[in-house]
Amino acid sequence: MQTDEGKVIDKDGAKIAVYKDETGKEHLLSAVCTHAGCIVSWNSNDKTWDCPCHGSRFDKMGKVIAGPAITDLEKGK
Ligand code: FES
Repeated sequence: MQTDEGKVIDKDGAKIAVYKDETGKEHLLSAVCTHAGCIVSWNSNDKTWDCPCHGSRFDKMGKVIAGPAITDLEKGK
C-alpha cells in the first residue's frame, strides 16, 4: 500500500480499516460503521472512510465528519 492511502483488510475475522500515513506508519481502525454496522471503504480522492449505506464519512483517523453516524470509528487492534 502506498503512503497516505487506506484499505480494508480482514484480520482475525474482523474488518479492519488500515490507513498508512505519510511516514509509512499504519493506523488501524475498525471498518465497521458506527451507525448501523456497514463496512466503510477508502475514498482516495478525499482521503476519508465513507460508508456506502447511509453516507456517513470519517476522516483518515476515524473521526466522524458527516452523519448519520455520531461516533468515531473504533480503534483497531
Ligand atoms: S451504516 Fe454507515 S451510515 Fe448507516
